[in-house]
Amino acid sequence: MNSFARWMVMGWMACFALLGVVSTASANEGGVQSLRGVHGLDSNASEPDFKKWNEDQKPIKRDYLQQPPLIPHSVEQYRINLRQNRCLSCHSWETYKQSGATKISLTHFRDRYGSELADVSPGRYFCTQCHVPQRNAQPLVENTFKPVDALR
Ligand code: HEC
Ligand code: HEC
Repeated sequence: MNSFARWMVMGWMACFALLGVVSTASANEGGVQSLRGVHGLDSNASEPDFKKWNEDQKPIKRDYLQQPPLIPHSVEQYRINLRQNRCLSCHSWETYKQSGATKISLTHFRDRYGSELADVSPGRYFCTQCHVPQRNAQPLVENTFKPVDALR
């Protein structure tokens, strides 16, 4: 190997070494932390505290217009599967009057192509995909979000 070639090889090696240092350094920089906390990929995250359900209450105020309303009552043991949908036993148009629950809105009868169906759209069948009960918990990430005027 002549000396020029040897210099080229050493140069490239130095380059790769430097790249390695830079990439490991930037992964730890900036104080970026996942909500899971700082844990190795192969170790378990610490368990979050389980929050207790809220007592049943009046509907919880919405924060933005398109928000699926939060569930203001306990949903423990409410099954939703192929055979039964406990939510609909109170919230459907057949049952809401008797149970005093809010009836599901018309949007829940519309499929993804905008066609109106005679029954709840399959895309809206699993209610808890969108509707969740809420605890009075601190936000996970600090933020300055404020509801729109119309909802304040
Ligand atoms: C035993 C009857 C019953 C069952 C079962 C039930 N709910 Fe309710 N739900 C109610 C009543 C009553 C209210 C309160 C209505 C009010 O006070 O205006 C309510 C309120 C709600 C609201 C708030 C509506 C609003 O306008 O803010 C949501 C969302 C909701 N329920 C979702 C669910 C989901 C999802 C399930 C199934 C996991 C479910 N409910 C099962 C009776 C029921
Ligand atoms: C894909 C998300 C999604 C699913 C699944 C879903 N909802 Fe909703 N729901 C919403 C959104 C968004 C709103 C508010 C806007 C609207 O009325 O469409 C809403 C509104 C409601 C309301 C309030 C209606 C009103 O007039 O104020 C009730 C009650 C409700 N849903 C019950 C249910 C029940 C019961 C199920 C299961 C059968 C269900 N939802 C499934 C997204 C969803």
